[in-house]
Amino acid sequence: MTADNHRDFLAIPDYTKEELLGLFNLAERMRNGLYTDKPLAGKSLAMIFMKSSTRTRVSFEVGTWQLGGHALFLSPRDVQLGRGEPVADTARVLSRYVDGIMIRTYAHAEVQELAKYATVSVINGLTDLLHPCQILADVLTVRQHLGGIDGRKIAWIGDGNNMANSWINAAYRLGFDLTLACPEGYDPDPAILKRAQEHANVRVVRDPMEAADGADVVNTDVWASMGQESEQAVREKAFKGFIVDGALMTRAKSSAIFLHCLPAHRGEEVAAEVIDGPQSRVWDEAENRLHIQKAIMANLIGGVAV
Ligand code: CP
Ligand code: NVA
Repeated sequence: MTADNHRDFLAIPDYTKEELLGLFNLAERMRNGLYTDKPLAGKSLAMIFMKSSTRTRVSFEVGTWQLGGHALFLSPRDVQLGRGEPVADTARVLSRYVDGIMIRTYAHAEVQELAKYATVSVINGLTDLLHPCQILADVLTVRQHLGGIDGRKIAWIGDGNNMANSWINAAYRLGFDLTLACPEGYDPDPAILKRAQEHANVRVVRDPMEAADGADVVNTDVWASMGQESEQAVREKAFKGFIVDGALMTRAKSSAIFLHCLPAHRGEEVAAEVIDGPQSRVWDEAENRLHIQKAIMANLIGGVAV
């Protein structure tokens, strides 16, 4: 419970390329029913959700149980963190009870603070800056449907948000081509972008069609993320034309797949004909959250080597 040789997963670069490939292999064995060990037997995961969630909550809770462990759902209405108890104190106390902490919150610095004071592994379940578990699930989906990520061209259409930043981090570690089309004023994090551009072909453009040209994967997300609801009207103007529709998909390869982390707004960032069409892999993508997070937990909390 207080093993201090723990590691955290706050961002994709916390793992080396070799370790990421090991995680994908383990997740694929899990998806294929070839891994049935219970490395979390007798262990518990605290799940702190300061924002809403369907996929992250259910996949972490079910995944923990499938690995033999127990997960606790903690919302700000229930725990003292929601009434202002310091993050550091929460980290110290939870570390005396549980073997891992998953957190979804607003400021990325809060997750870093939690990890600093926790003596158990902390897993980032989304911050305003990053969504690393989701992008590992997305890469797993690319491997599943396109046979691998090496040499693939990934297009991101929309906000330079937590999803975009994590795709950039994935390109930094794994080295595939990534073109992001973002409206002016909605670019990804500059430091994350600069670091990746020193290692991989990562570009930011303004024209969604240009990003989609010859892409193997077309990927988008909502115009207004959680916490940005009051900006909806302003963003609707800024993101006009940033919709993945049938016309945009014709610019990508005919074998291209469409990804969306969900929840989606049909008619805003994606047309129903695409998300509900033959190139969409969004349900497999959602399922892959379960497999990759189980691999992460088996490694960080269960001590399974990757
Ligand atoms: N994609 C994703 O993280 O979904 P939830 O917000 O439902 O967890
Ligand atoms: N960018 C979105 C992702 C939701 C899973 C958000 O932060 O709300």
